Amino acid sequence: MFEHLRRLRSKLIKPHTPFKIDFEMYNFIFEAYERLLEYDIDKLVFEARSPYQKVQIVHSKSLGNLLVLDELQNMSEADLIYTETLMQRGKENYAGKEIVILGGGDGGLLWELLKEKPKFITMLEIDDIVMKACSQHMRTICGDCLDKRKGDNYEIIVGDCVKALAHMIEEGRQFDYVFGDLTDIPISTTPHGDAWDFIRLILNSSMKVLKPTGKYMTHGNGASCPESLKMYEEVLSQLCVPVTFTKDRAFVPSFFEDWIFYQVSPK
Ligand SMILES: C[S@@+](CC[C@H](N)C(=O)[O-])C[C@H]1O[C@@H](n2cnc3c(N)ncnc32)[C@H](O)[C@@H]1O
Repeated sequence: MFEHLRRLRSKLIKPHTPFKIDFEMYNFIFEAYERLLEYDIDKLVFEARSPYQKVQIVHSKSLGNLLVLDELQNMSEADLIYTETLMQRGKENYAGKEIVILGGGDGGLLWELLKEKPKFITMLEIDDIVMKACSQHMRTICGDCLDKRKGDNYEIIVGDCVKALAHMIEEGRQFDYVFGDLTDIPISTTPHGDAWDFIRLILNSSMKVLKPTGKYMTHGNGASCPESLKMYEEVLSQLCVPVTFTKDRAFVPSFFEDWIFYQVSPK
């Protein structure tokens, strides 16, 4: 079961691969689900180890700067389509809405949502180092929204989103949208069983802070991995409340494939 959760997005692999011979400081061939993807990386821009993960920003000649967390490739500067499909730009109306973002440390989603004039966005991101690195080196995607922790209509709370969600549930808070923009295998600061249990916990907690008319919006997995998508949909069918969901897909440049995005509504 855990196998299907394996991040199908590219994972950095070690230099012993025969597919590339000219390694400088890194081997930037990444391994995805039964595929090898070679990136045209020419520079390491940033590297630090946070309390939670290894944070790197590398430069790709064709994609611009690219965030790599624990050697798993995340968002690049060429991936606006990822954010626009995640938020269903043009199909959802965020004006005057109350929104929670789980994760989202690259700031791309926060930046794009702020353009839609929401009432308030609360972003729950665990890793300050990711945000500082992106604020400095990924400004084309996050603008200046990560420069401070509070703006007129947003606040970034640094900590485990599961704990923050539990607190919101206790307080009876309700939101119009919750976005799951976490790493594919989110960081857990307390034991919750396997990774699927943790994802189930995040989904169930999110359902409890959604208004009856609310929506949970998230990224799924690559279209090339139907097993993982099926597993995710099984999890959706077993939540604490019955839900319906729609899907959308888009080719994300730095993932080198179509990616599936979910819009989940309580029934
Ligand atoms: C970089 S963003 C999303 C990346 C990009 N949109 C993508 O999926 O390729 C993912 C963020 O989730 C954060 N994260 C992981 N587990 C978390 C948790 N338990 N609570 C809050 N944030 C978490 C990571 O620190 C990371 O910054």
